[in-house]
This record gives sequence, C-alpha cells and structure tokens, in this order.
Amino acid sequence: MDGVLNSDVSLTSRSGETSAASTGRRPGTGPYLDEVTGRGGAHTPVWFMRQAGRSLPEYKDVRGSSTMLEACFDPAMTCEITLQPVRRHGVDAAIFFSDIVIPLAAAGIDIDIVPGVGPVVAQPIRDEAGVAAFPELTPDRLVAIEEAVRLIVAELDPAVALIGFAGAPFTLASYLIEGGPSKNHEHTKSLMRSRPELWNELMSKIADLTTVFLRAQVTAGVDAIQLFDSWAGALTQRDYRELVMPHSSRIFADELVSSVPRTHFGVGTGELLGAMSEAGADVVGVDWRLPLDDAVSRVPGKVLQGNLDPATLFADRSALDADVRRVLDEARRARDLGARGHVFNLGHGVLPSTDPAVLTHVTELVHELTAR
Ligand code: CP3
Repeated sequence: MDGVLNSDVSLTSRSGETSAASTGRRPGTGPYLDEVTGRGGAHTPVWFMRQAGRSLPEYKDVRGSSTMLEACFDPAMTCEITLQPVRRHGVDAAIFFSDIVIPLAAAGIDIDIVPGVGPVVAQPIRDEAGVAAFPELTPDRLVAIEEAVRLIVAELDPAVALIGFAGAPFTLASYLIEGGPSKNHEHTKSLMRSRPELWNELMSKIADLTTVFLRAQVTAGVDAIQLFDSWAGALTQRDYRELVMPHSSRIFADELVSSVPRTHFGVGTGELLGAMSEAGADVVGVDWRLPLDDAVSRVPGKVLQGNLDPATLFADRSALDADVRRVLDEARRARDLGARGHVFNLGHGVLPSTDPAVLTHVTELVHELTAR
C-alpha cells in the first residue's frame, strides 16, 4: 500500500509557486466559508447539489442544442450556468458547473455523457492493457476549466463561495470498468477483489487525474472543493478502507487541495461515514437516510452537510416546511453533540423535474429560521 500513499512528485512540484495572491482567490468570508471553517456565520449556509441544470428553464435556454461535453469546455457558458442558481435562489455557494467525467474526457478517454443515461465509456477498462493505456492528465488540457473558474470568480459576489469538485476514484473507476452507470458494480468489485494490484494501479492513476483536475480549479480560484464518491455506499467497510480510502486520502492530502475546505460526499454511506471523514475531509456529506444527530457520533468534530430528501421537494408546503425544520432541529442537536457546524443541503442532487420555486423557498426558510 506504500506506493499508493506516496504522493507523485509531478503533482506536487507546482505547489511552490502557489500562494493566495497567485491563485487569485478572494478573501475567504461569507456564510459558507465561515461555517465550514468552524467560525459560524450570519445564518446556516445553503446550497444544493445539482442546483445548476435541468430544474432551471434558464439552463435549458443557455444550453440550447450544445452537448454536455461542449458546455463543460465552453468557459462563458460554464460561467453563466454556474451563476444561474445563485441569482435565482440566493444560495450561499455556487458549485462549478462541470461533471465528474470531464477530467477523463480532457485526458483523451473516449467518453460521452448520454442524456437520461449518464456517462458512457467506449472501451471499458478491465485488464492490464486497459490500465496501462490509461492516459495522464496534464494541466494544459484544462485551460478551459481554469478560464471558466476565473470568469466566475470575477463575477461572483465575494460573500458567495465557489465550490469546485471532482469524482472520487471509486466512483470514476465504476464508470470506467462497467462502461456506464451500474446498479451492482459487478465488474468493478470483481476486478477489485480478484486483481488488487491491478486495481490499485488503476485507482492510483485515477487519483492522480482527479488531483490534477482539483488543483486546476484551486489554482484558478475556487474557495472550497467537494469530492463526490457517489457510489461508495455499495462497498463493504473493509473493502472501502483497504482498497478505496487510501486513494481518496491521497487526493485530500495534496498540498494545494488541502489549502481549501474539503467536503466528502457519497450516497448510502451511513456505515462508511467514519472512514470517509478519516480520509481527510473537513465537511462530511450525509444522505437523507441517517439523521444528522445520529451521523455526528460517526464523524466527531466535523462539519455536517445535508440532508433533506430530494423527493421532499415534491411534497405540499406544510409537509416540506416541517421536514426542513426537522433537519435543522437535528443539526442543532448534532452541534450540541459535537458537530463543528452545519451546511444545509439535500441528501443527494436536485431531481430534474423539481419546481425551482421550491428551492428558492427552502433557501429563504433556512436563512430565516437560522438567522443569528
Ligand atoms: O449543479 C451542480 O451540482 C454542478 C454540476 C454537476 C453535474 N454533474 C452536472 C450534470 C455535478 C456536481 C455533477 C457530478 C456528477 N456527475 C456526479 C456526482 C454527483 C451525484 O449526483 O452523485 C455523478 C455520479 C455524475 C455522472 C452523471 N453525469 C450523471 C449520473 C448524469 C445524469 C444523466 C442524465 O441525463 O440523467 C450526468 C450528466 C449531467 N451532469 C447533467 C448535469 C446538469 C445532465 C446533462 C444535461 O443537462 O444535458
């Protein structure tokens, strides 16, 4: 496992040049950054995973007939789409508009994002030859990403944080090995268990690529990052700790990545929360299955993020408001039990058919109920 934990010299060599001044990062204040650094802000900060995208008519207008990949490599379009939910909902953080598979596409892997399906890989990686051919991602391939972040930073209200993100190695490995979205991850788990050395080699290469993607975003000015290990909940705790966590830890430990607040999120990861927080996050995302005041004992001393069920946004107003209040009550108890703070979010992404007016209402309600 040693080889996995050693950081790659080629990735750390640029860190010497980087300081707050040279990254162009704005001073870190505002409700989101205050909360995730444990200072506590004017109110509980709110943002929603997948807040940009198909729930917004203005998103569909801007996207027009461009493909998702085209949109993600078009800095002006990326900037506009990132800012749309901030303008509309008044959320405390913007999430950079991109996708977890963008660094794979930038590195030259033949991958498409198929509407209604998700990422589809032309040649699934399942053997030595596939792992050997996995390309290196060099920063020059991310010029459009850096440009987009700079455009957003220049326009965004300094009190609103910009969150960069990437997919964690396990979730990306699942798309690469299965060839597309998978319910059971059978090829992925089979490679992991029968060929652990080959698995670790692939995971190590993916972790390098993810680190380059995050470093580009931090260098260009994001205020914080989130690592999405969306499908890690499919793993046993033993497999997660032995074969996945070391790779995610290496990303979190990178000098540049760890210079900003880091969030770690997965779905169905209640049993893995302790390990996921040990991987190196400052903030741990909790899905809707586990109350925040239960989650806190698994991740003592961390900031919690979550965890309204995205389906609750379809309930009638009184049921919705009651559920928002329940999450805030549980967050308050979690704080009393040692949580360092609370970032209000959903337990997973906004569903595309969500009425955006409901998201605006939830943002206002949380701000009102938590004003300090
Ligand atoms: O607002 C935001 O959250 C920022 C943008 C964002 C997207 N993808 C845009 C997107 C983020 C953070 C992601 C991350 C992502 N992508 C994850 C991790 C988060 C999670 O939901 O667990 C995963 C697993 C993916 C892979 C992926 N990409 C899926 C499953 C899909 C949906 C496929 C579909 O059409 O239903 C995509 C495509 C995608 N990524 C869309 C958007 C807005 C839809 C494409 C479109 O609008 O044409």
